[in-house]
Amino acid sequence: MAKIDITEKVVSLAKRRGFVFQSSEIYGGLNGCWDYGPLGVELLKNVKEAWWKEMTFRENIEGIDASILMHPKVWEASGHVENFTDPMVDCKECKARFREDTLEEAECGNKAYKGRKAGKCRKEGKFTEARNFNLMFKTYLGALEDKDAIVYLRPETAQGIYVNFLNVKESSRQKLPFGIAQIGKAFRNEINTKNFLFRTREFEQMEMQFFINPNEDEKWFEYWKENRINWFVKYGINRDKLNIHVHEKLAHYAKAAVDIEFAFPFGWGEIEGIHNRTDFDLKRHSEFSGKKIEYFDDQTKERYIPFVIETSAGASRSFMAFLLNAYEEEQIARENLDGSKAANEARTVLRLHPALAPIKAAIFPLVNRDGMPEIAHKLTEDLRKDFKVFFDDSGAVGRRYRRQDECGTPFCITVDSDTLNDNTVTIRDRDSMVQERIHIEKTIQFLKEKI
Ligand code: GAP
Repeated sequence: MAKIDITEKVVSLAKRRGFVFQSSEIYGGLNGCWDYGPLGVELLKNVKEAWWKEMTFRENIEGIDASILMHPKVWEASGHVENFTDPMVDCKECKARFREDTLEEAECGNKAYKGRKAGKCRKEGKFTEARNFNLMFKTYLGALEDKDAIVYLRPETAQGIYVNFLNVKESSRQKLPFGIAQIGKAFRNEINTKNFLFRTREFEQMEMQFFINPNEDEKWFEYWKENRINWFVKYGINRDKLNIHVHEKLAHYAKAAVDIEFAFPFGWGEIEGIHNRTDFDLKRHSEFSGKKIEYFDDQTKERYIPFVIETSAGASRSFMAFLLNAYEEEQIARENLDGSKAANEARTVLRLHPALAPIKAAIFPLVNRDGMPEIAHKLTEDLRKDFKVFFDDSGAVGRRYRRQDECGTPFCITVDSDTLNDNTVTIRDRDSMVQERIHIEKTIQFLKEKI
């Protein structure tokens, strides 16, 4: 299968099965914005929950949820008003707009030149001079739309953490080293959005800022790099689809930076950044707010501004990586009702980690008679107390399996004629397609162990 095909196939499956829809689709869509459908919202929630557990179910990391709109001075202190810009150029001929630093890979916007590289157009002198374009979305606070009322939709969640450093330290009585974690929406008015959820204008971040003694920065940088790559592997991403890219050229606030990259069909792409941000952010907020932000170590009697190791993952980009990683098409022997195999057929399967899968189990009555639907309904209701499950009684069982394979459901439970005699059901595993029989009352325990 051609690599680029896979993104198209995943986008098509995402729409067909209700993972992701184009935003405002009935109006022709809104560029760079996407809506999560019934299955997508579950998968995204599970990704965020897995991250939240990893980060905050420990003693030295606290969670917060800061507001999206913040005092405008926050963005002056952080450097976003001055520096959060991309160089933008316009093609005088076809009017397409590009980020100047991505021109070489970009394609010309003119249909007549389909596939032509924009770099070629540049050589032919078709572009305007580059202008710097600030990526922050502006809006107004209150009724008057004047310059004093300008506020920004946050372009990252990190600043909400820095400005709450003292609040969290004091209210939770944490001592260094400790971290603050946050999941939330971020907004960037990207010049070019592309590749499905990879670069969008509205997205979610999962960020954790770990505050440390400046002497321990290298140790903690290594610790978080390892921890974060292991998290992606734990939730099913093959290690060989992950790469650590070390930044040679550093942002003005950083002492060290690496990206965790995923092998997207279009090439390696960053899904998370790990940065040693030094004391830059706390120092700047201290300067701009006039409030002393520092830490007193009551053991060593030292007073200092902590350094920060940041782990900054995109929830939406990770979602896309988990979907692409899970997608597989294969030829299999058709599954008969008794678990035996017949002639070959194709199946599309999402091999999502059970903890991430939107639906944990589907429950089928084999036929719609002899009391099977009633037993299957009762089982569905029992399981629903603990898990997101789905009841399906339409079509042949083989077709019901295929539908759940495409949704990434790890287990399908069938109530059949044996159930009527001995209260056992079959549980079919999505990946191996092997069926086993277990007592109906053991299904809850079975799912708890597997998920
Ligand atoms: N606080 C640091 C920070 O925001 P970043 O590298 O700009 O760093 C962190 O962003 C992560 O946020 C990226 O690794 C990516 O996963 C996600 N991200 C950034 N811009 C995005 C966009 N336009 N669309 C989707 N995800 C984005």
